[in-house]
Amino acid sequence: MECNQVKITISKVLSPSFKTVVTGLFEGEQAIVESSGILQDEQVIEYIKQFSDFNGKFGECFSVTISTGKNVMVIGLGNRNEWNENQALNIGGKIYHELNRLKIKQASVSIKDNERIIASIAYGALLRSFSFDKYKTTKDPVDMEITIVAENTKIFEDFKQEGEGVFLVRSLVSEPPNVLYPESYADCIKNELSKLGVEIEILEKKDMKDMGALLGVSQGSSKEPRLVIMRWNGSSKDKEDKPIAFVGKGITFDTGGISLKPSRGMESMKYDMAGSATVVGIMRTLAARKAKVNAVGVVALAENAVDGNAQRPSDIVTSLSGQTIEVLNTDAEGRLILADALWYTQDRFLPKCIIDLATLTGAIVVALGHNEYAGLFSNNDELASHLVNAGEEVNEKLWRFPMSKAYDKVIDSQIADVQNIAPVGSGGDSIIAAQFLQRFVNNTCWAHLDIAGTAWHEKGNDICPKGAVGFGVRLLNRFVERYYEI
Ligand code: BES
Ligand code: ZN
Ligand code: ZN
Repeated sequence: MECNQVKITISKVLSPSFKTVVTGLFEGEQAIVESSGILQDEQVIEYIKQFSDFNGKFGECFSVTISTGKNVMVIGLGNRNEWNENQALNIGGKIYHELNRLKIKQASVSIKDNERIIASIAYGALLRSFSFDKYKTTKDPVDMEITIVAENTKIFEDFKQEGEGVFLVRSLVSEPPNVLYPESYADCIKNELSKLGVEIEILEKKDMKDMGALLGVSQGSSKEPRLVIMRWNGSSKDKEDKPIAFVGKGITFDTGGISLKPSRGMESMKYDMAGSATVVGIMRTLAARKAKVNAVGVVALAENAVDGNAQRPSDIVTSLSGQTIEVLNTDAEGRLILADALWYTQDRFLPKCIIDLATLTGAIVVALGHNEYAGLFSNNDELASHLVNAGEEVNEKLWRFPMSKAYDKVIDSQIADVQNIAPVGSGGDSIIAAQFLQRFVNNTCWAHLDIAGTAWHEKGNDICPKGAVGFGVRLLNRFVERYYEI
């Protein structure tokens, strides 16, 4: 995967030839927090007082050239009591953005703090620097170099591995659907992950005879479906140690099928494979940092298109689990492909738990809005709380929704075992979609993340340019690290 990147180095000293030095000031304080000792603190503070009303508000910037000739950029770190790793990550992103805006090509960052905070600043700058310009015939070369003053390089090295996972997700999600379709996507997964020691298996249409739900979705497209299985065996116990499983929705384009979507905004449905991309991203991250865990990733890849052979609303298909599904709306296709992928995963791997990720419902955006919380649904309180905690830690937050028999009942079909949507007017679409999925996990400990509102950012934020976010990689990496690594 190609993408432009800034060069970030951790070094014990400032780069002497770099004219720009970035440092920080907490809100309302009178001394800059810098680690190099050459910035002439008092002179900088004097300039600030004389020429501005800058007082260290979070993300505010002030630049001045001091008598040694250094260009000093002071960034506001906000309230000292609110300062933490996530704030540091955001400040790193802001620093990158400001340097880029001012077309500064080389800068040292000198902020005094503990090693994790400093590494987080570096990581924030890296995450913000992503750009996807593969299809631009004239490219802006990214030739920025940032040196961050710190003692410990290991923490940033680990963050960088995770960052590669995030960038892989963003690149996959940014690809257009004429380039990235199930077959090409599966090949790309194999290329990117097998070199890191991940075992890859690719099931083709001919291997999917019993997966009626997945096949039904793909039958209206000229692109054949794929099911890709990724295995990372890093547990220090043994291969028999039951894995943790990640399952992803990979609809490379969602037209809605015969239940066609309106044309306005349909182009955004190229990101309907973001759940699967996140699974690829977390598997890459675990392998790259040689995580001591056994993990499997399973992604169901299909295009939901519409031709003469497309599935009709009212078709009945038989899923891999044996349950029959009445397809009342062909636009509720994510849950159909996941039904087969979930059943396959629990049946073959008997995992400790399954976490699925999917851009599953528009209703989750109605409930939670964009880019704040993703929806969490689970049949296990402990798993749910672990995921919520990990999300809080890395600021990829989850909000848990209820599930219950009453929500489940509305998808009982009159003539099949289950139907893929509730009767009109039931409401609670995101919960009902989760209830549908739960019928295919066979009581395995399971959680579902509906990332329809968090996978794409229309404006971008401190650590992510506008477009694909890569939501979930940092969350799941923290989750594995905290609760599963042995
Ligand atoms: N891919 C969509 C969900 C979606 C919507 C993702 C907006 C990202 C942004 C999904 O396949 C879909 O169309 N769901 C339907 C379900 C409905 C028919 C019950 C929806 O949400 O409208
Ligand atoms: Zn759909
Ligand atoms: Zn969809």
